[in-house]
Amino acid sequence: MTADAALRCQALTVRYGRFTALDGFSYAFAPGRLYGIIGPNGAGKTTLMNVLVGGVRPSAGSVHIRETDVTGLRVPARARMGLGRSFQITRTFAGMTVFENLRLAAQASVFRRQPLWRSARTFPETAERARAMLATVGLEREADRPAEQLSHGDGRALELGLALMADPAVLLLDEPLAGVGHGALDRTTDLLARVSAGRTVLLIEHNMSAVMRLAETVLVMMDGKLIAQGDPAAMRRDPRVREAYLGSDA
Ligand SMILES: Nc1ncnc2c1ncn2[C@@H]1O[C@H](COP(=O)(O)OP(=O)(O)OP(=O)(O)O)[C@@H](O)[C@H]1O
Ligand SMILES: [Mg+2]
Repeated sequence: MTADAALRCQALTVRYGRFTALDGFSYAFAPGRLYGIIGPNGAGKTTLMNVLVGGVRPSAGSVHIRETDVTGLRVPARARMGLGRSFQITRTFAGMTVFENLRLAAQASVFRRQPLWRSARTFPETAERARAMLATVGLEREADRPAEQLSHGDGRALELGLALMADPAVLLLDEPLAGVGHGALDRTTDLLARVSAGRTVLLIEHNMSAVMRLAETVLVMMDGKLIAQGDPAAMRRDPRVREAYLGSDA
């Protein structure tokens, strides 16, 4: 199983001074599976994601994409190898319209693959891809609105669209449902299910019903460590999980 992992990390550790945010985390993520990553605030979930995508250097340990050691590679190099992410905090261009945000992302994904003089000729193609992505993430009616005017749910959908533009084989999502209003939760969860098909997905999420619905395997983190992993139903019953959330008195 380890040999054909889509993404694998070994003994990953991140220290900030004397504080250890990620503590010897090892796991092999199988291709095409959706992993839910849960754990209390400060457990190290975002830190793990930042190390996997290359934004934070580990103090120790390694990351492999398929069989390639990418520990020394930066974010763009890992993105070219099929790693995509969304952020816990929305990072769209607020003043630009939804369509312009998507077209810029399409253009950026072309720039990464070809020289500038060829990219310039792909302008109609990137507009086409932006329009297709509007449909994929259900934002056709919001195409001409500035991103800053979107509801939280639509903002999340836009950010997902930006991440999907590079068609990543491995998609890392940090709380894609954060701030999404009650009325838009089901729709956004459906969207996550749809765009996850055919990809390896690491989904960090505090919304347990979404994790239970979407995840095939749930990883539980606490104090920078992986403390339990298994199918969602088993994790829900696991006393270690309750303890992580409620404290040892529970
Ligand atoms: N740059 C940094 N410098 C110092 N400490 C940091 C830094 N980044 C994260 N931490 C600390 O590392 C720990 C893990 O943080 P992290 O953001 O990974 O947690 P998390 O599981 O994503 O939590 P949440 O569910 O609240 O998003 C926290 O105690 C946090 O304060
Ligand atoms: Mg976090």
